[in-house]
Amino acid sequence: MNYKTILCDVLVVGAGGAGCRAAIEASRHNLDVIMLSKELLGKAHTAMAEGGYNVSLGNVDPDDNPETHFKDTITGGNFLNNQKLAEILVRDASERVFDLEEFGAVFDRTPEGKIAQRPFGKQSWRRTAYASDRTGSEIMVTLTEAIRKTSVRVFDEVFATKILLEGDRVAGVTAIDLKYGDYLVFRAKAVVMATGGAGRVYKVTSNAQLDVGDGYGMAFTAGCELVDMEMVQFHPTGMVKPESAKGRLVTEAVRGEGGILLNSEGERFMHRYYPEVMELAGRDQVSRSIMTEVLEGRGSPDDGVYLSISHLPRSIIEFRLESMIEQFEDAGVDIRDQPMQVSPTCHHFMGGIRINEESGTNIIGLYAAGECTGGVHGGNRLGGNALADTQVFGALAGENAAKFAKGHSHTGFDRDTVVREFEKLESMLERKEGISPADARAELTELMWEKVQIFRREEDIEYAVKELRRIEKEVVPNIKVDVQVKRFNPGWHQAIEFEHMVTTARMVAEAALMRKGSRGAHYRVDGDPNDKGYYNIVIRKGKDGEMELRKEDLVITSITPL
Ligand code: FUM
Repeated sequence: MNYKTILCDVLVVGAGGAGCRAAIEASRHNLDVIMLSKELLGKAHTAMAEGGYNVSLGNVDPDDNPETHFKDTITGGNFLNNQKLAEILVRDASERVFDLEEFGAVFDRTPEGKIAQRPFGKQSWRRTAYASDRTGSEIMVTLTEAIRKTSVRVFDEVFATKILLEGDRVAGVTAIDLKYGDYLVFRAKAVVMATGGAGRVYKVTSNAQLDVGDGYGMAFTAGCELVDMEMVQFHPTGMVKPESAKGRLVTEAVRGEGGILLNSEGERFMHRYYPEVMELAGRDQVSRSIMTEVLEGRGSPDDGVYLSISHLPRSIIEFRLESMIEQFEDAGVDIRDQPMQVSPTCHHFMGGIRINEESGTNIIGLYAAGECTGGVHGGNRLGGNALADTQVFGALAGENAAKFAKGHSHTGFDRDTVVREFEKLESMLERKEGISPADARAELTELMWEKVQIFRREEDIEYAVKELRRIEKEVVPNIKVDVQVKRFNPGWHQAIEFEHMVTTARMVAEAALMRKGSRGAHYRVDGDPNDKGYYNIVIRKGKDGEMELRKEDLVITSITPL
């Protein structure tokens, strides 16, 4: 088995907001830094983030401050957050937004010339900094420009498949070059995982194609601890039509700017659920309200509800929601006059790789940042906290990975493990009979959408767990790629991703089964009222390779659950 080995000091796996920020920070230490980008640089999911970046600057509401931001983050997270991590988030969000400005990002401004801030759900003040409704795109363009000014070596269209270890220390990763199919081994003194989320394990999602959970899968297989994987956020407003755009994000900024939700009877139904905050309740709350309307027969013809902004001044719509105008124009809807049909879409994983206050994991030399991590957001993430998370923890992981790399040399690595990994990938091309990756994916994403969604029931989750265990045993080893070439073969890439998707989906379902009561985004219609849910669920691979789950006490620094 031929493969090429590439050495560096710090390896960053993933090139979204967190990955780019980690690579920039690590490169400041005069080290050889490599960043792997599964897509062309700049096309990571962060570019699809719309509404904004939470930071308590107090530019619009002067009473805002990090303490209030912290409190909102913890109550929004239903008290399940690791409070030490949430403290870091709110503490560093302002410095990191100024870094972005220094790199060249242009945020919208107040009349006084300060960074403008808009209201977002479940927050006490207008705190969300924005660049119209394309904030993620502004940030990604800025970060990719900044990366180009550093010595970071970017490997575009390279897909990491496995974390390599020597004992309990990270040694690097195996990867394939998606263009030519070459097998690669990246050896590094320290590795940062910044692989994003896994919305694509659900049939309807706002996530980019690359968000399949490869980071969660790789981390689990390597022996990392993961936390709160059952906490999956369904953003209340995804597009409903056309079918090809189903699930595409309709930013919370629409409601932040004054958009209202209506049912098929023209009723502003949020009055019935959260009369004090209405459309700006938590995402989990708004999603459940919408689903209740639909299930009780007051939904739109395509099983959504209506989101209307026709009462807002045109200047606000045209200036602050310009992407929304375009997005719906493509679907034949002029949002200045006509309502948008929306329904919930899988948007964010609050759970993920467990990190400490240095962004380190339980594997020595392995760091993680951004959506692939768990703990910062607890049971439900506030809109706007994800972009801040990418910058705060990206910088922290990059800094600490660099410090680690400076004090350590490369480890060895087990060549047999590498060969076995590449033989496994190769076998997908050689297999004569089997299941196509497209069929396998369709089965998995449908299962997750039907059985482990917003409203969850014991029997549904049990069914999903049973099916996922079967898929893991029977489908994963039998994936067969139709076109048996290594160069430019998306079918092969999908086949490789599938194992990670199944591992990720299983972690979600197994943890959902363990959590018997409702908390945050995990809502059990048959919930056990005795399970108040004030614990985290930690998952890791047991000695026999099986998934082990355990409940752990919350990390509390200042706010005790109500
Ligand atoms: O609705 C939005 O613009 C999404 C923001 C977020 O998830 O942070």
